Amino acid sequence: MFENEKKIAAMEALKFVKNDMRIGIGTGSTAYYFIEGLSELVKKGLKITGIPTSKKSEELCRSFNIPVDYNIKDIDIDFDGADEFDLYGNLIKGGGGALVREKIVAYNSREFYVLVDHSKYSERLHKFPLPVEVLPFMSDKTLENIEKLGCKASFRDDKKFISDNGNYIIDCVFNYTDPELESQIKMIPGVVEVGIFRHLATKIFQGTIDGCKIIDIK
Ligand code: 5RP
Repeated sequence: MFENEKKIAAMEALKFVKNDMRIGIGTGSTAYYFIEGLSELVKKGLKITGIPTSKKSEELCRSFNIPVDYNIKDIDIDFDGADEFDLYGNLIKGGGGALVREKIVAYNSREFYVLVDHSKYSERLHKFPLPVEVLPFMSDKTLENIEKLGCKASFRDDKKFISDNGNYIIDCVFNYTDPELESQIKMIPGVVEVGIFRHLATKIFQGTIDGCKIIDIK
């Protein structure tokens, strides 16, 4: 859905990629357009090193001959999609189940550029179920503990969805996903990571029918 808007956002963000940069490379359908566009630039001689946020994005990068290296300490800009974002640049991520690596890369990047179509905006986060990655060990109990925070939670694909890290994803439906929940959920033993990304995004590239809107997050 909104493929053209996703592509518009990805193409605009690509203008910020410069020679010799080390860049985070996200996961999902919007990130796909970014990777595809990046491969064209690499073909024309652009030199970058990519740090992909999932096995799938790594495979894509390799298939497009985009150099990949995980032993990079200084990441210039991370480029990734999001499932929902609010007025303050808080995000929900993990629709593709890659939230752990996505958060590690975003946290360790000087800039984090988020590429989305118009539908991802909400004044307050409430549309997209919050993904939480949990260890399989005693995961039924972990789910119960998460539900005590006031949501309806379920294992993605009845535990058939396994993350790149060998874990389950629990999708949590809150009436409103208060960004403050991030630390509360993370305190629960068994929780590996929470799909709330606070204070990480520095720019949002929002594709619209009229072009790309760039929102600077202060
Ligand atoms: C994957 C993610 C994606 O960035 C998010 O799901 C958005 O995907 P898309 O660009 O396909 O809408 O967080 O874990």
